[in-house]
Amino acid sequence: MRPNIKNIAVLTSGGDAPGMNACIRAVVRTGIYNGVNVFGVLQGYQGLINDNIIPMDARSVSNIIHLGGTILKTARCLEFKTDEGMEIAFRNLKSREIDGLVVIGGDGTFTGAQKLGEKYGVQVIGVPGTIDNDLYGSDFTLGYDTAINTVIDAIDKIRDTADSHDRLFFIEVMGRDSGCIALRSAIASGAEAVLLPEKATSLNELIAQLETGASTKKSSSIVIVSEGHKHGGAYDIAKKVKERFNHYDTKVTILGHLQRGGSPSSFDRILASRLGFAAVNELLKGNTMQMVGLRGNEIKTTSIEEALTKHAFKLESDLLEMTKVLSI
Ligand code: ADP
Ligand code: F6P
Repeated sequence: MRPNIKNIAVLTSGGDAPGMNACIRAVVRTGIYNGVNVFGVLQGYQGLINDNIIPMDARSVSNIIHLGGTILKTARCLEFKTDEGMEIAFRNLKSREIDGLVVIGGDGTFTGAQKLGEKYGVQVIGVPGTIDNDLYGSDFTLGYDTAINTVIDAIDKIRDTADSHDRLFFIEVMGRDSGCIALRSAIASGAEAVLLPEKATSLNELIAQLETGASTKKSSSIVIVSEGHKHGGAYDIAKKVKERFNHYDTKVTILGHLQRGGSPSSFDRILASRLGFAAVNELLKGNTMQMVGLRGNEIKTTSIEEALTKHAFKLESDLLEMTKVLSI
């Protein structure tokens, strides 16, 4: 027996990620197809507090499937972390008779949704939308694949000039405490080495690897540094390496927020559509406090509690081994 859901809302929160718009489109159209009114909340949880909530129809999401960013905007909202802020947000949902909420974001967003659900009984479903791929319960998070494509496109360009000048480049990528972007980008770009937050690669090991490359006539090299690495960012590491190994002229590039933009890849568009479609159907079944995610090639649900508390070690062991083998 389907619960009597009349109105649902969708918001995007935390760091934006390519694919969020494709997901918003799927949420809106799946809701409308099932006879439900759909509302968009602007600027994440800040929009809930400010009652910045707009009705959406099938045309509201025309021609956005290929757009990066989020038409609903996002925000990092400290006020929502306060009891007063969350109370105001709940009252706004209630006054608009919104029965269910789809939140697209990362672990912080899910934490906020969990509290909204636990404290006020709001029906919430989470969609893992972050380029970091650091959430348990989904093999890929929304935007991760597109971010990797952006990184390797940049590295391919850097490789041209590194090879022309016989240079060593340290390239810093995003991922917060996750090395997922760095690892897959290293394999796909053919980097000589990669430094990951999850692995304590010593400077000695890195220098030994670079020395071996130089001794086997490698005229240039690329080292990818995940921003959360314990030895610091790319500038810190390049400095430490240069003090002990100056075979190459050394340069540093920080890719930064470039990785958050761009048109979503086909993979991310399809993943976004599947997750948005599934999230609405979970609400319509009366489910709550669940995250929809990709497991194998299936869309499965994981409790938000599990998604937040279980640590996902998502670095593939064969990729970790390949970084050394394929860069000789
Ligand atoms: P992400 O979702 O990408 O991890 P943030 O960590 O910025 O991004 O979280 C997004 C938003 O979720 C925050 O700006 C805040 O509004 C809300 N949020 C995060 N942590 C909490 C918390 N502990 N309690 C309530 N709301 C939270
Ligand atoms: O969580 C996504 C992310 O891009 C991280 O990889 C990065 O460390 C962080 O957001 C940057 O946050 P902001 O956009 O607030 O600078």
